[in-house]
Amino acid sequence: MEVNMKRIAAERAVEWIEDGMTVGLGTGSTAYWAILRIAERVKEGLNIRAAASSIRSEELAKEHGIPFVSLDEIDRIDLTIDGADEVDPDLNLTKGGGGALLREKVLAAASDKFVVIVDESKVVSSLGAFPLPVEIVPFGSRLTLNALAALGGQPTVREKDGQRFVSDNGNWIADCRFGRIANPAQLSAELNRIPGVVDNGLFTGMTTAVVVGKLDGSTSVLR
Ligand code: 5RP
Repeated sequence: MEVNMKRIAAERAVEWIEDGMTVGLGTGSTAYWAILRIAERVKEGLNIRAAASSIRSEELAKEHGIPFVSLDEIDRIDLTIDGADEVDPDLNLTKGGGGALLREKVLAAASDKFVVIVDESKVVSSLGAFPLPVEIVPFGSRLTLNALAALGGQPTVREKDGQRFVSDNGNWIADCRFGRIANPAQLSAELNRIPGVVDNGLFTGMTTAVVVGKLDGSTSVLR
């Protein structure tokens, strides 16, 4: 039987959720499995409340009976579980393949523990092969794209099903090809200095642990 590496990573991370926690829910096909497993644990009696990093994760969680709390009612999140597109040896991440990078970063920054779940193909020696998603406001986008190009990003405005992709925040995603990213924290700061950039998919210094699901059916934890 084929091993579902995303699912085994997700289910291992969900074991770390304890009674009484406020839990952040990530977005994407790996976070999907975490949400389903959390829902099972809630049905078994786990008492938690959750906040989500996207409308689709919130809908999925509510559909499966996970109790919800508004971010306006809480100051901290105990544990957030989310996927990633790339993980480097310092546990820096590229995120935003699903276009939810801004809300994901808001949750990660407010979390005491930020646990990342990936299949082993996402673990890389340096970030950059995966195009870096940058969330930009539609206003003045030509100028913002010019500035991203001047930084070397070769931006492409994301489309989905032949239509411009619009984030949950009403913004656009510019997928940027910087090549190998030698200093993720520096590039992240440079990107966020561009007027019109809301945030970017580099997550640096935020990760508590990465649970990696492997083809042989095992998991490992990077810290
Ligand atoms: C969404 C994300 C996802 O976590 C990332 O794209 C990984 O997705 P998947 O688990 O589907 O491979 O950042 O914005």
